[in-house]
Parts: sequence; structure tokens; C-alpha cells
Amino acid sequence: MKKEAEIFHQIVEDRRSVRKFDTNYNFDHDAVKRSLDSAILSANSSNMQLWEFYRIRSAAARERMAALCLGQNAAKTANELVVFVARPDLWEKRLESLLAHFSVIMPDKEDRKAKLTYRYYEQWIPQLYDVRFPLWHDLKMKALIWKNKSKPFMRDVLTRDVPIIAHKSVALAAQTFMLSIKAEGYDSCPMEGHDSHRLKEFLNLPSAAEISMVVGVGKGLPEGVYGDRFRVPNEDVIFEL
Ligand SMILES: Cc1cc2nc3c(=O)[nH]c(=O)nc-3n(C[C@H](O)[C@H](O)[C@H](O)COP(=O)(O)O)c2cc1C
Repeated sequence: MKKEAEIFHQIVEDRRSVRKFDTNYNFDHDAVKRSLDSAILSANSSNMQLWEFYRIRSAAARERMAALCLGQNAAKTANELVVFVARPDLWEKRLESLLAHFSVIMPDKEDRKAKLTYRYYEQWIPQLYDVRFPLWHDLKMKALIWKNKSKPFMRDVLTRDVPIIAHKSVALAAQTFMLSIKAEGYDSCPMEGHDSHRLKEFLNLPSAAEISMVVGVGKGLPEGVYGDRFRVPNEDVIFEL
């Protein structure tokens, strides 16, 4: 095994969800910055980057977060928390950035490869993400699915699927973040146990934004690991065809 692979597998193995952090530790907040820099390099759907990351650092904000995370120890004792947010509603803004980028790297719109890219982003992406009129959106998508029923076609494109598309990418970013935090010598705990409604209010987010998870970060204490790691047998979850 390559040395890099060995190091990677060790980090994956060492990462645990840690629910108690050392509140007196001289925590290096730059580790969070570096880990977020890595997180944004995560694979994400169509590179639309429909995510936002809110760093909660001040004592007052952390205290509020502890309440919003239902008093969980992982929130109460965290040196910092990061809220991972899915923003499917920002698709127009992100698309604008991508098209501006393409105009620099692919100025000739008639080039064969460029044509495909522009068609994908100028036609398909707005069709997929514009869910202002859900009934109309679903009708159009169902018609498209029906038209393409005799061949493999992407079917999870209804209004209800759009936030899920964004959540998948946000979750990958969260995993990259947690692995990086471990590599930095710290620990983390992802939390879906929170009041998403109040949390969105606290962060001043619009209703279309969705909280993917809150991640508490800090110097883990041994008692913060609640028991040995358990996974069901590989043969129950890994299949080969
Ligand atoms: C999306 C998600 C939400 C989670 N929410 C919570 C939570 O609210 N509170 C908590 O203590 N752990 C939470 N966890 C941590 C899981 O319980 C933990 O990952 C699982 O038990 C496996 O343990 P390990 O992470 O140590 O391998 C969450 C994990 C994920 C991925």
C-alpha cells in the first residue's frame, strides 16, 4: 500500500464522532479555516457549489448554538461549530459565476466541447433548478421522463429532488471537513439533532435554505467517545456484480 493511502486510511479509522471537547484547550481556529478550504474542493453536483458554511466562534453564538442543538454535549463543549447549509435557491448566482468562468476558459462557444458545456449549463441547469412553480416544473420533468422512457434517463429531477441534490454535495463537503479536522489533530461530531427552523432564523437564512448538519469541532476528550465503533458486516452492505 502506498504511504499516502496508509495515512489516509489511518485518518479515516481515527475519526470518531466525539461528543465532549476540552473547553480549556488552546484551539487553533486556523485548522477550521484550512479544513473548510479543503471541504470546498469536494465533489459537488455539476460544480454548482450550492452550499454555505457558517463558522460559529464567539462565546455568545456558541451558547445559542448549544441550545439550538438541543443541549447536546458536542455543541455545548465545542471550541467552534460549523453549520453546513444547502442552498438550492442560489442556483442562478452560481450559474452566473460558472458561465463567467467558462467565457474565459472556453471563449469560442462554437467549439464542439464548449457547445456541449454551454448547452448543459444554459439549458439543462435552469430547467432543473428553477422550481418557482413546482406543479409546472414537475409536469415538464414528467413529460421529459416519459419522452425518454425507452432509454436510461435521469429521473430524480422533480421539485422534491432538487434540495436532495444539493444536500448530497453538502454532505460530501462535511465529510471532507471532518477528515481534515482529524488530520489537524482535532475531533468533530456531526449533528442533525437541532432545531432547523430556529437555526435558520439565527443565521438569517431564507426558507429555501436547508440545514444539512451542524458539526461541532474541538480537542476531543477520551470520555467524548461513547463506546467502541460498530459497523454491520461488510457482506451486508458491500455487493459485487
Ligand atoms: C447526518 C448525521 C447526523 C448525525 N447527528 C448526530 C447527532 O445529532 N448527535 C450525535 O451525537 N451524533 C450524531 N451523528 C453521529 C453518528 O451517531 C455517528 O456518526 C455514528 O454513530 C457512527 O459513529 P462514528 O462517527 O464514531 O463512526 C450524526 C451523523 C451523521 C452522519
